[in-house]
Amino acid sequence: MSMDDLPPAGARPQIPGAIAMHAPPLFRTEMDIADCEVDGRLPADLSGAFYRVGPDAQYPLAPGNIPFDGEGHASMFRFKDGHVSYKSRYVRNQRYMAQAEAHRILFPMYRNPHLDDPSVKGLTRGTSNTHIITYDGKLLAFKEDSPPVAMNPLTLETIDPVYTFDGQLESKTFTAHPKIDSENGNLIAFGYEAKGFNTDDVNVFEYTPQGRKIWSAWIKVPYIGMIHDFAVTRRHVIFLVIPLAIDLEQMQRGGIHWSWDGSKPTYFGVMRRGGDGSDIRWFKGPERSATHVMGAFEDGEKIYVDMEMSAYNPFPFMPMRDGVRWDPVKGASHITRLSVDLSDKSLTSYSMEPLYPHVGALPRQDDRYHTVPYRIGFLPCPDPTPAAGKPANAGYARFDNQTRATQFFDAGPGTLLAEACFAPRSKNAPEGHGYLMGVATRQHENGRCDLIILDAEHLDAGPVATVRLPGRIAGQIHGWWTAEEQLPTG
Ligand SMILES: [Fe+2]
Repeated sequence: MSMDDLPPAGARPQIPGAIAMHAPPLFRTEMDIADCEVDGRLPADLSGAFYRVGPDAQYPLAPGNIPFDGEGHASMFRFKDGHVSYKSRYVRNQRYMAQAEAHRILFPMYRNPHLDDPSVKGLTRGTSNTHIITYDGKLLAFKEDSPPVAMNPLTLETIDPVYTFDGQLESKTFTAHPKIDSENGNLIAFGYEAKGFNTDDVNVFEYTPQGRKIWSAWIKVPYIGMIHDFAVTRRHVIFLVIPLAIDLEQMQRGGIHWSWDGSKPTYFGVMRRGGDGSDIRWFKGPERSATHVMGAFEDGEKIYVDMEMSAYNPFPFMPMRDGVRWDPVKGASHITRLSVDLSDKSLTSYSMEPLYPHVGALPRQDDRYHTVPYRIGFLPCPDPTPAAGKPANAGYARFDNQTRATQFFDAGPGTLLAEACFAPRSKNAPEGHGYLMGVATRQHENGRCDLIILDAEHLDAGPVATVRLPGRIAGQIHGWWTAEEQLPTG
């Protein structure tokens, strides 16, 4: 498949920002629901917790601010003994607590410290609203401009508003997309603007499952652009720098951290895992956006990273530097394979191959395969082949990268879907054998939400169970499944 073979995307754009905004911008309602109502039958082997986090502004956003700056609201579907309960709590980070005490916004603009209230000097600005995982017995919530926040995985109580791995964390920032090594359970992560605001330093590091740092390396980036996600293989770490670049003039005018600068190339950086970073090679590409990794692998000296990729800025609320009107066709993403061959010492650019015609964002994989070759991927997206004359309903696609076979679950009319998350049937179940779950927002029912649970091998068979919520619940950017044996007892 080539870029020219892709169908026009404009009729059915699927925007990460739109997904993040499925919940009302000001939900502000922490919940506890015991014994949720279930249509169908909860699988007997589904035991653990499905965590989600998303922005939920603590106070109405200041004029000109963007939805990504809402405070992190974490939630948990807890599956145990054939029952499911729902709980949600704000992440009580330093920013949240300071604002609660002041009864007002103290951090009025997305990643712009110039406008902060003087009283918050020295506090972390992080909203903790982007991603959430369990690690070393803790629930960690992330925003990529600040250190993680640690929470209790069972109660969602915040226990450490600035989690630094017992002081080992060198970077001032921490990605929202750490990777878990598929073979030894290590955590690999990085921070950009790692020495503070407007620094071109990236710190990349690896910790054991017990929280002991193994290595840390510092590199410089070609320019300060968003590095939202990254990829890790057995031997390499891979970054993609995109032209959503720091805009100091815009910030001086009171605007947000980023604007899209289409004059800048993209850079695909590859360095040896566990090294000092001095071997990093930057491969150039044209103006593109690529935010999330579906999976990555290496084959000898060849590196492959599968990402959602769009022609440019995928976020309608991120300003365009040249002032052009945002175009949803150019902002729509396809799963694209980026690759380089490290054995070619003269290679200066990376290759791109679109894999599927589906138009969507927020791809996921079986999270046990972060650092090894993978086969199965999932994507929330509109129906790629709707019936003639019918609108394309939202759904979840399943990709088999070996056969390129696809499946599609159609969520029905008037439904918006959040990112899906995969739960393996058991610890040692084969790749992709288990359940795919995600929250559906029913637009015709005043935004009432369901948690849809599908057999991940048979998405097109429809839900095996649907957890019916009585109304809306807090929104989500990303989510995480933690199996029962990895949760604390109690
Ligand atoms: Fe993300």
